[in-house]
Amino acid sequence: LSTFFEEKYLAGRKVLISAGPTVERIDPVRYLTNDSSGKTGIALAEAARDAGADVTLVHGPLRIGLPTGMATIAVESGEEMLEAMLRDYETQDIVIMSAAVADYRPSVQYDQKQKKIHGPLRIELEETTDILKTLGEQKQHQVLVGFAAETTDVETFAKQKLVRKKADFIVANDVSRSDIGFVSDENEVVVFGKNDSVTRYDQQLKSTLAKALMRQFAEALA
Ligand code: CTP
Ligand code: CA
Repeated sequence: LSTFFEEKYLAGRKVLISAGPTVERIDPVRYLTNDSSGKTGIALAEAARDAGADVTLVHGPLRIGLPTGMATIAVESGEEMLEAMLRDYETQDIVIMSAAVADYRPSVQYDQKQKKIHGPLRIELEETTDILKTLGEQKQHQVLVGFAAETTDVETFAKQKLVRKKADFIVANDVSRSDIGFVSDENEVVVFGKNDSVTRYDQQLKSTLAKALMRQFAEALA
């Protein structure tokens, strides 16, 4: 009922959000992944839906249920996520990369399970494609939002990511704090905008925070 009374400030708008981890296979039974509950991305997707947007949620493997009232696309690897994000990119109004994309993948993916009998397994890792940076390079009218997970020098690193990835906003998280982020239901973030804007959001429920963030991103729409 509460959503019924919410202002539909995103009516007629399209919002594309990525959430959760990505998974890079070593062999059919082993993989590399990242810490991510997907809660932040899902909260943002729900906030956009409640504001009347046509939402697409691209997500890696999640342990929590998927939200309703939106299109959902399940992916595994970073390459699959990139492809899903680019599929309908031109028609989107707000695009948010809240996924914890695995930074490295094995340079070789084995088709068969590697057996211990052959001794230690040496895995060479190569960098995955930077999805946000790719979206930044192909950006036209979209408001593009990225995240920055940092343990030190949050402001410096977040601002570097804003410029390097051509995003309109970077939402910075201090992941060295164990009381917020990842598995927690609460978070505290600082949003760095393209025109040197700095907006601080005090510690609050991820669902409340998502509503406030979505308002800020919507205000940047042309
Ligand atoms: N990101 C992405 N593709 C990648 C890695 C990251 O799209 N291969 C996105 C994340 O979804 C996030 C932003 O880039 O929105 C920043 O991610 P983060 O992990 O903080 O930064 P990285 O650029 O990966 O650098 P590092 O992990 O070394 O700090
Ligand atoms: Ca990273």
